[in-house]
Amino acid sequence: MEAKAAAAEKAVEYIENGMTVGLGSGSTSYYAIRKIGERVSQGLRIRAVASSTQTASLARECRIRLTDLTAIDRIDITIDGADEVDKQLNLIKGGGGALLREKILAYNSRQTIIIVDDSKLVDILGKFPLPVEVAPFAVDLTLAQLKRFKIDLNIREVQKEKFITDNGNLIVDCHFSAIRDPEELNMKLLLIPGIIETGLFPHTPFTRVIVGYADGATQILGA
Ligand code: A5P
Repeated sequence: MEAKAAAAEKAVEYIENGMTVGLGSGSTSYYAIRKIGERVSQGLRIRAVASSTQTASLARECRIRLTDLTAIDRIDITIDGADEVDKQLNLIKGGGGALLREKILAYNSRQTIIIVDDSKLVDILGKFPLPVEVAPFAVDLTLAQLKRFKIDLNIREVQKEKFITDNGNLIVDCHFSAIRDPEELNMKLLLIPGIIETGLFPHTPFTRVIVGYADGATQILGA
């Protein structure tokens, strides 16, 4: 079994009848959503909220009952991927550009399970460029503020077109190389007007990480 699928399938074991489930985005979450769909077809009763339009359409395809974020007051469990996980279980997310909704789901969940293959484990965050969601109408001013961190940055493009998030914003990928204090950097970035959200997810007690390995084994970190 693929490492990503192994982590995803283990995480889905935590879902129980009656739960409201947050669905992440990306290629590892894909396996989790398919597995949830399988369990739904076998009688699991849940409702779900999606972290991206792509995830919403996959969930519909898998016949998972979706509800709107405005229609719920709690999320029991969110299962989502990550781009990097450090030893303290701080994360970089947003490689797929869904970081704002992903962060809202994680923040409002009683528990969040992050599913990764072992290639995502790092000593220190930052080799993966940190995605930052930025309001398009003042992007140059926001970029000027980001340049004060003396880092390389680029506005994300896909096929030579600016990438637009599900929320109508831009993603600026920030090459920090090494992020020594994720919580502090997250706070500093969020103080810049025009930055809507960052892909830095400082560890919380409600988050655990399931790591999948190529031989199908899994390892649970945290909580
Ligand atoms: C989507 O915006 C991301 O946060 C993903 O969860 C993250 O990029 C991990 O994606 P993969 O599971 O595809 O590696």
